[in-house]
Amino acid sequence: MKITAKLIGSLVFAIALVAIVFTYINVRQEKSKLYEEARGRSALLAESLRESMRTAVQSGDRPALQKLADKFQHQRHLEGVTVYSQRGEVLAKSASVSSALFLEHAARGVSGVYRVGDKRMFIYTLAVPAGPNSARITLFTDAAYIDYEVFRIWKRTLARALAQMALISIVTLLVIRWNFVDPLVQLADWMRRLRVGETSGHLPPLKGDLFAPLAKEATTLAKNLQYARRAAQNEARLRQEGESLWTPERLKEHIKMRMNGRPLFVISNREPYMHIKEGKDIRAIVPAGGLVTALDPILKAAGGTWIAHGSGEADFEVTDDKNRITVPPEEPAYTLHRVALSKEEEDGYYYGFSNEGIWPLCHIAHIRPIFRKEDWQYYQDVNRRFCDTVLEEIEGEKEPAILIQDYHFTLLPAMIKAARPDARVAVFWHIPWPNPETFGICPWQKELVMGLLGADLIGFQTQFYCNNFLDTVDRVLESRIDWEHFSVQKEGHSTLVKPFPISVDFTQPNRDAAKLAEKPDPAAVLKDLGVKADKVAIGVDRIDYTKGMLERVKAVERFLEKYPEYVRKFTFIQLGAPSRTHIPQYHRFLAELHAEVDRINWRFKAKDWKAIVFLEKHHEHKEITKYYKIADACLVTSLHDGMNLVAKEFVAASDDHRGVLILSRFAGASRELKDALIVNPYDIEQMADAIYYSLVMPKEEVEERMGRMRQQIHENNIYKWAANLTEELMRLRIDEFRGV
Ligand code: G6P
Repeated sequence: MKITAKLIGSLVFAIALVAIVFTYINVRQEKSKLYEEARGRSALLAESLRESMRTAVQSGDRPALQKLADKFQHQRHLEGVTVYSQRGEVLAKSASVSSALFLEHAARGVSGVYRVGDKRMFIYTLAVPAGPNSARITLFTDAAYIDYEVFRIWKRTLARALAQMALISIVTLLVIRWNFVDPLVQLADWMRRLRVGETSGHLPPLKGDLFAPLAKEATTLAKNLQYARRAAQNEARLRQEGESLWTPERLKEHIKMRMNGRPLFVISNREPYMHIKEGKDIRAIVPAGGLVTALDPILKAAGGTWIAHGSGEADFEVTDDKNRITVPPEEPAYTLHRVALSKEEEDGYYYGFSNEGIWPLCHIAHIRPIFRKEDWQYYQDVNRRFCDTVLEEIEGEKEPAILIQDYHFTLLPAMIKAARPDARVAVFWHIPWPNPETFGICPWQKELVMGLLGADLIGFQTQFYCNNFLDTVDRVLESRIDWEHFSVQKEGHSTLVKPFPISVDFTQPNRDAAKLAEKPDPAAVLKDLGVKADKVAIGVDRIDYTKGMLERVKAVERFLEKYPEYVRKFTFIQLGAPSRTHIPQYHRFLAELHAEVDRINWRFKAKDWKAIVFLEKHHEHKEITKYYKIADACLVTSLHDGMNLVAKEFVAASDDHRGVLILSRFAGASRELKDALIVNPYDIEQMADAIYYSLVMPKEEVEERMGRMRQQIHENNIYKWAANLTEELMRLRIDEFRGV
């Protein structure tokens, strides 16, 4: 308030000063104008009097002169008239000119402003030449009206200045209050509540936009503070429990220690950040899919280099001349090296061999794999291209640690090892590995298995997939399999095969939620979708035939049919990120899904309500989190899935222990999340009942189930996964690689 008083004081002083100076100048100008007018009027009057008196002066006719003087006396502001002869005698004077003072001034024959008694007078004298009887007329004009006029100007101007001062002070006070005081009070209150832990990290919108940059910084600071606080709380809790949870900080230390300061190299087809064009702007988005969700937090914590296909349309507009860029864009923590592929390479290697061949081969979703010779050629070429990039990146690094991801790079481990036998190479296979009969469909199964066995370590999501892999090796190659230690010996090189169930960053969904402008509210979210409902279930998927989305919407239909009391009360929201859209099978699947959703919605059509809302677009993480948080149930009903991290993300997002997870028994996650309602996605009746049970489940049961699942993911988070994988990789004895 002190500052406000000073500011207003200064403003008042400045306005007053300006008003006084301007009034003074104005008054001076007005005054001289009024005097000039008085002089002009007197001169005019004197002239006309002279003409009228000339004859009477010549003839010395005093009564006539007196008459004229009396007549003129009534002119406006005129105080009186005297007529003096040449010899100084009074020939005539108006009645008002009685005082000696008047006569004294008239006798002197002066012109100008004079004080006459207690009055200021404007005196004007004019000679009346009339031969020997010449005379002198003197006019007395009262100057008091000029003073009065001047006084009035002062009064008017000062009153105006006063009004201005009041107005400006009020406006200033309001502006200060609205733009400074209120936001500052709001900010201070928010900071106080943050300090005592009463609020989340997101600053509510401040009044006015003056503090917007400060609000942004404060929010980041608050989030860091919260994060640090949570980490400290965790540490304290863990110290008490005598164990230690895996956190980003701990992973960082672990990798530093175990890898002796050497950087980590990750290779995948899909990049963690993709630059796209939006009009003239370039924006980074995080592509959908479990691989990116899992690995980005690791690289953020531990740093390193991630080599991936640059598939965004603006990807190479933002990289340096070596195709590198540091990411994440808002807080760079590691290097992304983008590999450019031609359209033909992308078609053959990615769409063709990887996603029309290996993907359906490994997923039992009853879609025939297609293996084309040309695609196989591109697949080999692109694996070679990535190998060259990796070799370039690891040049000069002794025993570099390399983590290769997924089915796009089965040949890469052996290629890298052939060039750099000292490299420690791990492959993590995110998707299922089928039984040897199924895998045997692939005409190049031997090459794929040989390529993979170039790695020192192969990780799968579950023990079951490890078994399938070793069975496949057994069937395809001449090798020695150590079933006790789960390793394969081939031409002097040994590969360890182990399960590493992948996970999520347990705290990420709540960090995403903190970025939301408002706390997620089911009614508001549904209103935005044009729907009114009491209960909500969600599904979050890449649009892929393995995810069981068709069976899921059929289950929603059956649920509404079987439990009609939920018609108009329950809505299923499906978030679907478009994926692999150039593959005909995906086209057909999407068209069928749309048709099914339309059919079901038409069947149950009602005003202000829909059975299914299908949001087919790429969603940012914070948006997805919003849906997780409002959902009564989440349906993860994959027909076959390596792990499915949506199931884990949903659980991690439920900090209030609300929400029921309905999970396919064919998703790897079902091995860990035993408190979900486990379903067979082909059993529509069972899924419909599961939806029903998820909605009527007693609150205590919902919370208990969710609590246990959260504990599981909290303890087995992505940092633990990375620590286990790198620990295993660094522990291995690296043998002489002579090819497999
Ligand atoms: C699965 C695969 C990943 C892949 C992701 C998204 O999770 O295991 O390797 O990145 O799907 O698919 P996309 O083809 O878009 O990369």
